[in-house]
Amino acid sequence: QKGGYAHFMLKEIHEQPQVAREVLHMLAGSTEVKRVLDAIRNARQVYFIGCGTSYHACLAGSVYFAQLAGRAVIPVLAPQFIPQYLPAVNKQDVGIFVSQSGETKDVLNALQAAEAQGMTCLGLANVIGSTLTKATACWLPLCCGYEISVPATKTFTNQVVTFLYLAYRLAGRDTRPLEDIPALMETTLNTAAPQIEAIVPAINPWNDLYCLGYGATYPMALEGALKLKEITYAHCEGMLSTEFKHGPLSAVTENYPVLFVTGPEDVPLIVSGINEVTCRGGRAIAIGQEDSRLRANASEVITLPEASPEISSLLSVLPLQLLAYHMSVGRGYDPDFPRNLSKTLTVD
Ligand code: F6R
Repeated sequence: QKGGYAHFMLKEIHEQPQVAREVLHMLAGSTEVKRVLDAIRNARQVYFIGCGTSYHACLAGSVYFAQLAGRAVIPVLAPQFIPQYLPAVNKQDVGIFVSQSGETKDVLNALQAAEAQGMTCLGLANVIGSTLTKATACWLPLCCGYEISVPATKTFTNQVVTFLYLAYRLAGRDTRPLEDIPALMETTLNTAAPQIEAIVPAINPWNDLYCLGYGATYPMALEGALKLKEITYAHCEGMLSTEFKHGPLSAVTENYPVLFVTGPEDVPLIVSGINEVTCRGGRAIAIGQEDSRLRANASEVITLPEASPEISSLLSVLPLQLLAYHMSVGRGYDPDFPRNLSKTLTVD
């Protein structure tokens, strides 16, 4: 069942290239894509709504929509949608509700409230036949098959791939460059795996660390931090890299680990953040494309293959998934079934 892998999580991490290929193929032939795009084009305001990992995909989607298609979207955590935005929405607005399971109560509550207000509600879900797919007039499948491991991996990347595809289409861009994603994911997994395994012994003794990103890598930093918290039980805070100097920098001591996820265009900004950490003796681990400025300033560099900034941001989450996985296993935990959690949260 685990296909030769020690855990479902590792198997599902390695399934990402294949499921990305499948979702891209589905999207290219889908008539629902046009309905989703038309709804977005005609909307007064668009919201991307989800919880946990699915919310991080919403955040990534909102960055791509603005950067690539010039369309501002509000990403929102589902329970916060009700007190904050519900009073402001009407039938001119569109919400895309994002959920792996399609059963998360927090998401379904927001969906029900939005529908009652007349908002157009669309879905993005992995489990076909789930409540979310039944309750939305139009939805797109994530094409991941079963995700057994409690920490979401392949469903996250396919949510992000779907948003990237929609942003390209909304921008009127040729979507063919996205077909490189599966091969780039393979390369990323192959090159990052030994680099990640090499740094785990130095990081794993720490029960407190930061994961920082900027622009399109900010949601990836949040996602990496969530994966780390979820399966290593360490505290890892995801944050915008530029915010670190506004307070958390005081936590840095000798060898204190700080992960910096960077896109190719953000290196100068990230390097100044890296220097603030290293000059205080901290350990700055950069995740980005090969760059002499990262090499010269970071304590370690986990290299990503060359790719456009938007694809690069998607790739950057793969080493973070591997890091969380190997730290968890190194601590003697079962990453597939972390304590206190279940795969589907059907309670408020
Ligand atoms: C983290 C994780 C959770 C879920 C969240 C929403 O790895 O899996 O944070 O993302 O509970 O679940 P879905 O996507 O099923 O609505």
